[in-house]
Amino acid sequence: MEAQRLLSGFCSTPPIQNTKTQVFVKFPLSSSSASFAQSQKWVSFKACPSISQSALSGKVFQCRNSRERIEFLASDKEDLRSGIRRKKLAVFVSGGGSNFRSIQEACLRGSIHGDIVVVVTSKQDCGGADYARDKGLPVILFPKTKLEADGISPADLVATLRRFEVDFVLLAGYLKLIPAELIQAYPRSILNIHPSLLPAFGGKGNYGMKVHKAVIASGSRYTGPTIHFVDEHYDTGRILAQRVVPVLAKDTAEELAARVLREEHRIYVEVITALCEDRVIWREDGVPIIRSKENPNEYS
Ligand code: GRF
Repeated sequence: MEAQRLLSGFCSTPPIQNTKTQVFVKFPLSSSSASFAQSQKWVSFKACPSISQSALSGKVFQCRNSRERIEFLASDKEDLRSGIRRKKLAVFVSGGGSNFRSIQEACLRGSIHGDIVVVVTSKQDCGGADYARDKGLPVILFPKTKLEADGISPADLVATLRRFEVDFVLLAGYLKLIPAELIQAYPRSILNIHPSLLPAFGGKGNYGMKVHKAVIASGSRYTGPTIHFVDEHYDTGRILAQRVVPVLAKDTAEELAARVLREEHRIYVEVITALCEDRVIWREDGVPIIRSKENPNEYS
């Protein structure tokens, strides 16, 4: 029993630091030999991030160096992230990498409970790859093409991501089709962002400024980013989130693209935050939805 093993460690060693969340423990004070902060009938200590609080809730454990039995009580007010393992992320880029940067910044400031551990690019010298190298992140070239002869094979890509222990793959302006090997290796774990309200203006060849030009030419009054899980085809995987952006009467494609991109940066960070906090739920009909952090009974 993993939780019991970890808890035994707590009882004989100082509590693990580096987390704001406290776990409350029923503990008879008279016989307490532990160095926990005490308050009336309760003692509390910092929770190890690798223990799931829901797994501990209501359970009774025995300390290794004590005959005391302690009971975990999960409070409603506790941070949902307590006990949730920090996720390892791979970001795929082919262009400027502004979405990649905003994800990286959100990881560094702590809004996303995860870290980018590797970047994959189809263009060795694109802005996103340059930025990654600048930040000291490993950059992998995929796929192998005439122009990019050093690219690795799909099997090596999967093996590399496994070696980095990647939990989630995030496509951020990556222009190549994702190989079936990767989709099978990472089920329900690969996200893409597209700059239109899918299923409109998606599919092969619909990328970059072409999307925004087509939106304006169609007379659509609304557009906006879509985040979807990735399947074997371009832009057809299950939709997870969308945001509506107005198309103004005098918009150029560049103006519209800039307005949509600002919204992309916001929504992608919000969705990845939810993903890393295990708040993406799959409805019975196969549609993924996001549980609200503030109100766990609400979904979007
Ligand atoms: C974004 O518009 C995204 O929706 C699309 O490619 C563009 C990438 O931009 N998939 P950036 O490289 O993140 O700046």
